[in-house]
Amino acid sequence: MIDGKKTMLSGMQATGMITLGNYLGALKNWVNLSDEEGINCFYGIMDLHSITVRQNPTEFRQNARRLLQLYIAAGLDPEKNCIFFQSHVPAHAELAWILNCYTYMGEMNRMTQFKDKAAKHADNINTGLFTYPVLMAADILLYQADLVPVGKDQMQHLEITRDIANRFNGVYGDVFTVPEGYVGKQGARIMSLADPMKKMSKSDENQNASIYLLDDKDTIMRKFKKAVTDSDGFIAYSDEKPGIRNLIDIYCACTSKTVEEALADFNGMNYGQLKECVGEAVVNELAPLQARYDELAKNKDYIDRIMKENAQKASYYANKTLRKVKKKVGFTEMPR
Ligand code: TYM
Repeated sequence: MIDGKKTMLSGMQATGMITLGNYLGALKNWVNLSDEEGINCFYGIMDLHSITVRQNPTEFRQNARRLLQLYIAAGLDPEKNCIFFQSHVPAHAELAWILNCYTYMGEMNRMTQFKDKAAKHADNINTGLFTYPVLMAADILLYQADLVPVGKDQMQHLEITRDIANRFNGVYGDVFTVPEGYVGKQGARIMSLADPMKKMSKSDENQNASIYLLDDKDTIMRKFKKAVTDSDGFIAYSDEKPGIRNLIDIYCACTSKTVEEALADFNGMNYGQLKECVGEAVVNELAPLQARYDELAKNKDYIDRIMKENAQKASYYANKTLRKVKKKVGFTEMPR
């Protein structure tokens, strides 16, 4: 809670180009939730998290700025929502350090995302990757967030955030709001088009596996045409048919239809027609976002102003919590 209002916080790493999975699992829900009256919303460009994997500095800078433009293009109003860069608010790194001292190695060892990423980047298993969830806890707890909308893959990090908050509150009294995770009804886990047993991911080396938010119409249609399905030849929504199920999930998340309504739309279609129909739904969903993105990309001064104003706003709330934490822990205050 901030100023008696419910508070929501979420964010994405500023790594590469975000995918349809990031959009349907997170960003689209943020836009819907931030339209509700009386909620304070904070959305971070989580660039500190990004360097747990090596980044090319020039591309990293471009990707981070592009992500801010994509948030706005997707419909987040930066005058109503606080959209900020994590690295512009030093309190994130500072609280993360403090929380590291209230988090156990055993807890971090259980994190499945760490295990996956460590396997993927075996040449660079750095301690930042290991303590990634603690920085995420700092992001959330600094803003006293009640609600954290994320895709399903982040729920384990949400649980550990709650554990850390409860542990800290148990020692020092009610310092942090204990947040709830929020996973949308649709699009919570979008799978790779090349391997429907794997999550769609920005870092997938196979370019056909993911739809990127700025992919043009032809690219989107071509990727759906190539999507891996099965050899049964009939359309049904079932765990035994992960490729078809994923296509139906994508269609439902883009059109806000139920699975039953989707199945009725696909009645009598073959796989080729199904793929075309899903591809078109995605193209229609992304077209307005892409048009707004192109406009925003031309407006450097506007983006710079948003960045500056929101960094100040985020810092104000973050520092308030950090001061409280430092006092509770017993750090010596600087004499005035
Ligand atoms: P990132 O950038 O990996 O993912 C951003 C969001 O996209 C969701 N997501 C998906 N949803 C459905 N299907 C998929 N295939 C898919 N892939 C990704 C993720 O669940 C996430 O919601 N660690 C966070 C970033 C972060 C954060 C935070 C989030 C840093 N600090 C504080 C919330 C609160 C992450 O996963 O980023």
